[in-house]
Amino acid sequence: MLSDHSATTGDHPSSGLALDGAASDQAYRRVRAAFEEHSVLLFRDQKVSDDIQAAFSRAFGPLELVKVGSEGSGTFYSRLHNLAADGTAVDETHRYALTARANQLWHTDRSFKRNPALASVLSARIVASDGGETEVVSTRQAWNRLSSAMRARLRDAIVTHSYAYSRDQIDTELIAQATRPEFIYRHHWRVGDVLMWDNRATMHRGRPWPSQQTRSMVRTTISALETDGVAELRPA
Ligand code: OGA
Ligand code: MN
Repeated sequence: MLSDHSATTGDHPSSGLALDGAASDQAYRRVRAAFEEHSVLLFRDQKVSDDIQAAFSRAFGPLELVKVGSEGSGTFYSRLHNLAADGTAVDETHRYALTARANQLWHTDRSFKRNPALASVLSARIVASDGGETEVVSTRQAWNRLSSAMRARLRDAIVTHSYAYSRDQIDTELIAQATRPEFIYRHHWRVGDVLMWDNRATMHRGRPWPSQQTRSMVRTTISALETDGVAELRPA
C-alpha cells in the first residue's frame, strides 16, 4: 500500500486471500512479494485467532517472545489494550493507557534490539468507535525525498537506538520529514482487520481515542534473519 501510488489509492495487494491460507508455500510467495514491494499489507474481514495469527506470522520467520513487563510477556502475543478485568476501560492513568500513549510516538518495532524485527502483524479484536487509528509511513520514500547532500551525509551513518533514550528525547529532524501528513497511510480499524508492516521500511504510530472506550489489539512480531538483510544494519 505504500508503493509509489501511495496508500490512498486503496490498492490491496492481498485481495482475496485469507490469513489461514497465506502460510502455504505458494500463497506465501505471493504475500512475501507484495510485502517486499508495498511494505504494508492489509487483510480485511479475517476470522483471526491467536493461533491463526501466529501460524501466518511464522511463515515470514521466527516469532519474538514478548518482553518481560509487557502484556503477554513470555508468549508470542503482545496484547495492546485498555481492558480492566471486568471488560470496561481502565483509567487513563493506568499502565495500559500509558503504553498506548508511548505507541503514539512515531517508531518502528523493536529497533532497540540486537536482532531487529522484520515485520509486525497487528490484528484488531475490539476497536474504539472514535479514533484509535494506526498510521504508517514509508521510510524508503522518505529517504528518496531527501536531498542528495543529506543522503550522502546519512548513508554510512550508524545510529544507536536506545529504547529508554528514544522515549524521552526524540530527534524530530528526520522524523518530521518522513511523516508529513501527505505521506501518511491512516488505517481506520474494523474488527477482523489484520495489518502487517515491514519494520525495515516503515514507521508507525497509534492514534488516541476517548479513554472510556475499549480497544484491544494483538501483535505478533517476526525476527529478521540474515536473508532479510540484518548484516547491513550492523556497524562494520
Ligand atoms: C504496535 C503499535 C499502535 C496501535 O502494535 O506495534 O505501535 O495503533 N500499535 O495500536
Ligand atoms: Mn509499534
